[in-house]
Amino acid sequence: MPRVTIQPSGIELDVDPGESVAEAAWRQGYVWPTRCWGQADCMSCFTRIVDGELAAVPAEEFELDAIRFRMNPRLRSNALIRLACQLKVAGRGLVLDKPGFRRAEADDSNMTSERA
Ligand code: FES
Repeated sequence: MPRVTIQPSGIELDVDPGESVAEAAWRQGYVWPTRCWGQADCMSCFTRIVDGELAAVPAEEFELDAIRFRMNPRLRSNALIRLACQLKVAGRGLVLDKPGFRRAEADDSNMTSERA
């Protein structure tokens, strides 16, 4: 099963086939910021690939359009920026940067799979 390391926390996530990184985080009880719940609309879930980019499934047109038209220009110029709600993983060794990534607490229900 693909596994992703999130920096700077060092937490490792197992990502099921066909599942996005954000979905894997929510399923396993972690906070991954969102306001649109995986619709590629809010940009809150953006992350930067730090290492192992060959393990990342290339972005599809839906994600590329969202980045092109909705993301802050300062971020979208970086080719290693991805939307975690769209990012799927095909192997091991992918390392992502997402400051603040952590295990959800009781009052984090708006950022986990348990919607408020
Ligand atoms: S969760 Fe909103 S763009 Fe990814």
